[in-house]
Amino acid sequence: MEVKNKYIVIKQNIDGAPEESDFELKTEPLSLSIEPGKDEVVIKNLYLSIDPYQLNRMKSPCAFQQSMNFAGSVIPGEAIDGYGVGRVVATGNPEFKEGDLVSGLLTWGDYSITKKVASKIEAAMLNKVETMGLPISYHVGLLGFSGVTAYAGFFEVCKPKKGETVFVSAASGSVGSLVGQYAKLFGCYVVGSAGSQKKVDLLKGKLGFDEAFNYKEEPDLKSPLKRYFPDGIDIYFDNVGGEMLEAAVENMNPFGRIAVCGVISEYTNKGRRAAPNMVDVLYKRIKIQGFLAADHVKGYKDFLSTTLEHLQVGKFHVLEDISHGVESIPSAFVGLFRGDNVGKKMVKVAGD
Ligand SMILES: NC(=O)c1ccc[n+]([C@@H]2O[C@H](COP(=O)([O-])OP(=O)(O)OC[C@H]3O[C@@H](n4cnc5c(N)ncnc54)[C@H](OP(=O)(O)O)[C@@H]3O)[C@@H](O)[C@H]2O)c1
Repeated sequence: MEVKNKYIVIKQNIDGAPEESDFELKTEPLSLSIEPGKDEVVIKNLYLSIDPYQLNRMKSPCAFQQSMNFAGSVIPGEAIDGYGVGRVVATGNPEFKEGDLVSGLLTWGDYSITKKVASKIEAAMLNKVETMGLPISYHVGLLGFSGVTAYAGFFEVCKPKKGETVFVSAASGSVGSLVGQYAKLFGCYVVGSAGSQKKVDLLKGKLGFDEAFNYKEEPDLKSPLKRYFPDGIDIYFDNVGGEMLEAAVENMNPFGRIAVCGVISEYTNKGRRAAPNMVDVLYKRIKIQGFLAADHVKGYKDFLSTTLEHLQVGKFHVLEDISHGVESIPSAFVGLFRGDNVGKKMVKVAGD
């Protein structure tokens, strides 16, 4: 059987803020049968994760794109891979059968064909999903990379102690909203920054943050941090970089820890670089550590049990922001850099 497969490509490399016109919808016929001897798997995509890091892959070739396999550059005109969840509709690989729900690197389109499984690493990218009675979308964000990133970044990189003070930027986003909730439930004092009053109200009213502020209304970012952290910051979970990182360093306590999860304010502007006061870093013995969730998947069991516990007792709020259809992928993606999303941005490509 043959279907028409719609998918999204970039027209050219994107070196500044992305615009919808940078993308193009392509349609090609796709066969749903596998040639004998091929171990490919064809997947009908259900949910696709829309993530800021993809912009770094869309830039003109540069060194960090070689740092790990899924940081690799996106080639203009070619299908874009990204995390998602779908159903196997055809398989030549004995590890998967038709109807399996799977997660892994899918294509930004209606269907995905996994690359020929040449190595264990590639094989590991596709996993069967056990829903555990939870919505499929939870396996894209909460139980996918956003959850692992938030959990590993907070517990393994920041090594919190109960009662410590925690600052989270992009706090109403997918990772930030989870970090704030883990930190509150662990027993920390938590303050978040976000880009609108609506988001600030959500952080304080629904997610239980102790304080929150709209960074777009603060002419000097050091002031709100002084206001909400009169005794200093012990942990800064950085999602944005830029001036926010500089302001946080100035307000850090001795032996403070900064987890550099992402620097989204620098993704769209090559000239923008945080220049934290290194004398502060030195004398306050601040630890600044970049990390990638992919290095922390071995802690998945701990992450899963803690997260399921929080969910079961109704203490965790899962924020999802879902667009519909392959055609909506460009606007969903571009919206991340305008602050359009609240919680995990994903595209629902098809119903199950
Ligand atoms: N290290 C890892 O393994 C890993 C894994 C996943 C994500 N990340 C990183 O973590 C960060 C959050 O990712 P996410 O998936 O959870 O995205 P997200 O926070 O759900 O969405 C991005 C948010 O960033 C904020 N933002 C956009 N442009 C900004 C700017 N110039 N300055 C400040 N804030 C800006 C916007 O919220 P406002 O309205 O608040 O501005 C927007 O909603 C990103 O930097 C991402 O690259 C890292």
